[in-house]
Amino acid sequence: MNGFCFTVDENKCVHCGRCVSSCSSVILSLDEAGLPRMKDGVDGVVGWDGCYRCQHCLAVCPAGAISIFGKDPRDSLLPEEMATPRQLEALMRNRRACRRYQDREVPREEIDQMLQLLENVPTGSNMQTLGFNVVYRKAEMDKFRKLVREEAFRLAERGIYPGNFSKADWQKQLDWEPGRNPGDMFFVNAPHILVIHSQKDRGQWRTDPVLAAAWFDLICACRGLGSIIMSYPVGALSHMPELEKLLRIPENGYYSLILGFGYPEYPYARGVQREGIAQIRELTF
Ligand SMILES: Cc1cc2nc3c(=O)[nH]c(=O)nc-3n(C[C@H](O)[C@H](O)[C@H](O)COP(=O)(O)O)c2cc1C
Repeated sequence: MNGFCFTVDENKCVHCGRCVSSCSSVILSLDEAGLPRMKDGVDGVVGWDGCYRCQHCLAVCPAGAISIFGKDPRDSLLPEEMATPRQLEALMRNRRACRRYQDREVPREEIDQMLQLLENVPTGSNMQTLGFNVVYRKAEMDKFRKLVREEAFRLAERGIYPGNFSKADWQKQLDWEPGRNPGDMFFVNAPHILVIHSQKDRGQWRTDPVLAAAWFDLICACRGLGSIIMSYPVGALSHMPELEKLLRIPENGYYSLILGFGYPEYPYARGVQREGIAQIRELTF
């Protein structure tokens, strides 16, 4: 018995071996009867200790014969329900950074549904150490944006500007603010923010939160919500340790972006038309 509850329905198994060949931990093999079994552990390296918990064995099985972690394969979403290439293209071409929001909140249940989806974001070594700190209530966000803004102006008087900004950069932001994001150059008046953090030194801790941010941006877009990926407020908060603490990033936590989201003030009627300047280079060897 193992703690992973790996079971095979022997009546369903078609002995195709896909579970074995898709197991990146290399801990499965077929026994004499052609049924998948865990390989013997060697010094605790192989065996269930090595399981990445990726569930590929459950997902790849054409017969739905494998269960792991107590999951019933019949509860999985099926590939037939995946977006078509055209649908994905439309999503990617029509998503836009949103800097104009309605003065209302996204329901907590909807935010939670979106965050649950982020459990599916790939993470290095399938570590899944991501944490999601979210401002659900606009009134709370309004308090935070005010605190950050006031502190930024206090710091600017002392010659300290967001991130690596020079005085000229700061002045530019001040000049742009009224037209670009009236009253809130940092969080662009977003009613909610999401801070995705990872655990330093575990897996791909610098990259994982960035991937998750990109996914969240798309999740918002397909639900008709506006969203924006922001690094500017992170640069500002880097000079405000007391305010940064309010984001409740754990001691060894890492984040490099803040996402703003909410109902957009107006929808965009069409996608932009990129210039086709992506530099694509064939590699041959
Ligand atoms: C890593 C990253 C950081 C960004 N930081 C900010 C930011 O701090 N403030 C902001 O208004 N926009 C920020 N943006 C949004 C970009 O400015 C925006 O994506 C760009 O203008 C293109 O617009 P589009 O996303 O609608 O195509 C950021 C985008 C990325 C990818």
